[in-house]
Amino acid sequence: MSEKATTDVNEAGIAVHWQEEEYVHPTTDFIAQANMTDPTIHDQFGLDKFPNCFKQYADLLDWYEYWHTTLDTSDAPCWKWFVGGKLNVSYNCVDRHLADNKNKAAIIYAPEPESEDHLVLTYQELYVRVNETAALLQDFCGLKHGDRVTIHMPMVPELPITMLACARLGVIHSVVFGGFSGKACGERIADSGSNVLITMDSYYRNGKLLDHKVKADEAVAIANEEGQEVDKVLVWQRYRDKYNSETPMVDGRDYFTYDVLKEYRGKRIDPVWVPAEDPLFLMYTSGTTGKPKGCQHSTGGYLAYAAGTSKYIQDIHPEDVYWCMADIGWITGHSYIVYGPLTLGATTVMFEGVPVYPDPGRAWRIAEQLDVNIFHTAPTTIRMLRKVGPDEPAKYNYKFKHMTTVGEPIEPEVWRWYHKVVGRGEAAIVDTWWQTETGGFLCSTVPGLEPMKPGSAGPAVPGIHPIIYDDDGKEVGAGGGAGNICIQNPWPGAFQTIWGDRDRYVTNYYARYNTNPDSKDWRDWPYLTGDAATLSEDGYYRILGRIDDVINVSGHRLGTKEIESAGLVVQEVAESAVVSMADELKGVVPDLYVSLKPGYEANDALKKKIIDAVIREIGPIAKPAHVHIVRDMPKTRSGKIMRRVLSAISNGKDTGDVTTLANPDIVEEIQKMVQGG
Ligand code: WT7
Repeated sequence: MSEKATTDVNEAGIAVHWQEEEYVHPTTDFIAQANMTDPTIHDQFGLDKFPNCFKQYADLLDWYEYWHTTLDTSDAPCWKWFVGGKLNVSYNCVDRHLADNKNKAAIIYAPEPESEDHLVLTYQELYVRVNETAALLQDFCGLKHGDRVTIHMPMVPELPITMLACARLGVIHSVVFGGFSGKACGERIADSGSNVLITMDSYYRNGKLLDHKVKADEAVAIANEEGQEVDKVLVWQRYRDKYNSETPMVDGRDYFTYDVLKEYRGKRIDPVWVPAEDPLFLMYTSGTTGKPKGCQHSTGGYLAYAAGTSKYIQDIHPEDVYWCMADIGWITGHSYIVYGPLTLGATTVMFEGVPVYPDPGRAWRIAEQLDVNIFHTAPTTIRMLRKVGPDEPAKYNYKFKHMTTVGEPIEPEVWRWYHKVVGRGEAAIVDTWWQTETGGFLCSTVPGLEPMKPGSAGPAVPGIHPIIYDDDGKEVGAGGGAGNICIQNPWPGAFQTIWGDRDRYVTNYYARYNTNPDSKDWRDWPYLTGDAATLSEDGYYRILGRIDDVINVSGHRLGTKEIESAGLVVQEVAESAVVSMADELKGVVPDLYVSLKPGYEANDALKKKIIDAVIREIGPIAKPAHVHIVRDMPKTRSGKIMRRVLSAISNGKDTGDVTTLANPDIVEEIQKMVQGG
């Protein structure tokens, strides 16, 4: 494990204590219908067949011009896939399904209030709405191929419609998770250079209609401060004939999308055929230091990889009803609610709200009513569903053939509840390990082929060749303990660069184990995932967590730096340090320590002010479990805050040897304060 991992805040080690579990085999019924049961599949995707093996995935797409070069490494480590090819993503997700399936449900939308009907968008309806929206973006907003647009929307059908409309024009979308603050959105607008923001007036969450448009005003202001003008704000409405927001529309800047759309009724826009290596979208994620990184994803490679993994790992057939409960504002939603399932012509379910509102049976009622047979969610949600309604699934008449878990390690005990109770002991489960950067899955069992092992992501998926290195670049083999898991080879779903910051891309992801920066050979550029992992003798990987300064809350990465700087915006705060604390439901949560400037007193009002600041700066997802106001931070003699010590205190663990600190006494004082006694 890296020096960092042992001396700094890190969560690697959560899963390391779990014992090896027995295999659980998929049922014969599942295998009989599975998309992939060919035992030679891993050979077909062996390193000796690389990169041409990925033709299999590219051929799931319709190409306007077929590509001539599978992988171009001339700008290593910025890989170009399927060079020479031209295609359009909205054509692949929508138009091409019309001939045979225009009346089939593309998207089924479940609003949070159960009093509201589900909305079914057929492929034909999706086609019409994507075209009209594309016409509006092109003519009214003046957007064209290569421009960036920021989309800050909740889970409503207008979100995938907007994304597909952008894709139709070759406009690069940057979807910001709806739960993020206006400030976080504004920073992303500025970084991506968007002059159009697409937002929504309101949405339901936990029974309340939340004002969302209010965030747009803040976002535009922040973007302006950072030098990015926003000329137009398009506002979709939760109810077409009503505006549900307290904030006034700004004259000449804000437009109700549905009003403007009236002028584009019946308009059709020819898909813009773009080169395979053109960017399709940006997705921001937290990194070790500084501001969020805009992961730039490609068009052809990304779509091929999303489609291939949706077909073989998600086992999606055209007749399946597939429900992924993620938010489209995260990469999971991009790849496995929108792009993968729609490319395959399946029916994808979208849910607006919280799966346990108004009661713990809600999710299972949706599954029953829509006859969902593939279900996809994260351990944090599974833990919540299990906590509030361990016996609820049995009360509903649904049957899943396949289920996914994603985003963080899943405890074997939680896995077993998922399998036995939610999956009736019959559903095949895939534990999919991947990242915002990777576009699609890295490790998972092929569900019709390989047995499941609770608590373990499984082997690498076809075409992915991981390697675990120790700090000196020596390979850690099977049974050899934990190390830094890397991927030896490029793959089509991998991000292309960090938007506007190639150096950071190379440094963060490829420099660690590269020995020749001038090399054009992909073999010299292992991709550093930033996770610690172990490999067991059977070739299954267990992912232990992040080795960098990133906290994975509910399966989503938050930078410790971002949370700490949010704490620092409060005037009274002198220093702030965040650590991850184990949490029964969310896996880990941020726990914040602050010290105050001289002359200020600790009190509850101040704690609340600090929590509010974090929510305002980042969003509720980053809310610290506690704010501990301490007299001083434990520090090394060189003045570095010892987050490791704070982390031990938050988690009730031994702080280890602290005698070499500059101020060892403070440790006991903080310990008393946090743990009592
Ligand atoms: C980090 C990526 C994957 C899309 C959603 C989150 C952790 C992800 C697993 C898993 C153990 C996992 C890793 C990874 N992670 N999936 N199945 N088992 N850990 O995307 O926000 O980019 O986070 O999530 O630490 O690096 P993300």
